[in-house]
Amino acid sequence: MDRRPLLFFDSGIGGVPYCSGYSLRSPGEPLVYAADRLHFPYGKRSREDVISIVLSLMKRLSVLVDPKLVIVACNTASVSALGALRETFPALPFVGTVPAIKPAAAGSRARKIGVLGTERTVEDAYIAGLALKYGNGCEITALAAPDLVEFVERRYIDADAEERRGAVLPWIRRFRESGVDALVLGCTHFLFLREEFRKEASPDIAVYDSIEGISDRIDALLDEKNLRARAEKTGSGLFIVTGGAPAETSWRRWADRLGFRLSLPDSGAEDP
Ligand code: DGL
Repeated sequence: MDRRPLLFFDSGIGGVPYCSGYSLRSPGEPLVYAADRLHFPYGKRSREDVISIVLSLMKRLSVLVDPKLVIVACNTASVSALGALRETFPALPFVGTVPAIKPAAAGSRARKIGVLGTERTVEDAYIAGLALKYGNGCEITALAAPDLVEFVERRYIDADAEERRGAVLPWIRRFRESGVDALVLGCTHFLFLREEFRKEASPDIAVYDSIEGISDRIDALLDEKNLRARAEKTGSGLFIVTGGAPAETSWRRWADRLGFRLSLPDSGAEDP
């Protein structure tokens, strides 16, 4: 029995779908979500920058929340810094989120797959490595969509169906033009638009993401390392946002959606 929390983190709200998905699956596990808004967006930074930001965030969070397992719910942080995290915190298990190239390549009949991510992710050697290892010889069109990250981070919570559809359409068009029949959502922010992507891409392009795979991986690690909380239901989780006051009203709304308590450690205030 281990009542320490699972920690999910991202540069912003991108990891929320993983965290809410896992809390539905396993309501007895205590959860903490951390949005590193102080350094958002990660996607425009260099690899070295992302590594140093993520390592110092992790140092801080490990003192603040003492997690038993960490989900790097951010493709940019995972492709850039997962190795450095594991090296720096050898006792802490990490689950990374990397673009689902393997199932997409296996599913592509055209042998052309698309990856949509941040600038940092699509240019990282990790992607080239995944493509080489699991790409099955498929041609890969990798595009960066920083505006879509901004849209999800700042607008999604108030956006209507038409706006959400409008945000994905230009990307579907571009991938269709390149002849791909399998599209990987390679940035966790885009999971909020998963249904829109699926609908607009259908019937000729299948859309892949890693959300269920990550929950399975968390369960496997908790069992393997005997870390389950073994509680029926925990109290409220914690939604940490770096960067201090003033708190955007959307933070409270996101925390409420998860049923978590908002914490702004840089403003010195909890539950403002
Ligand atoms: N959500 C992050 C990802 O999965 C990226 C957002 C950012 O650029 O900070 O890559």
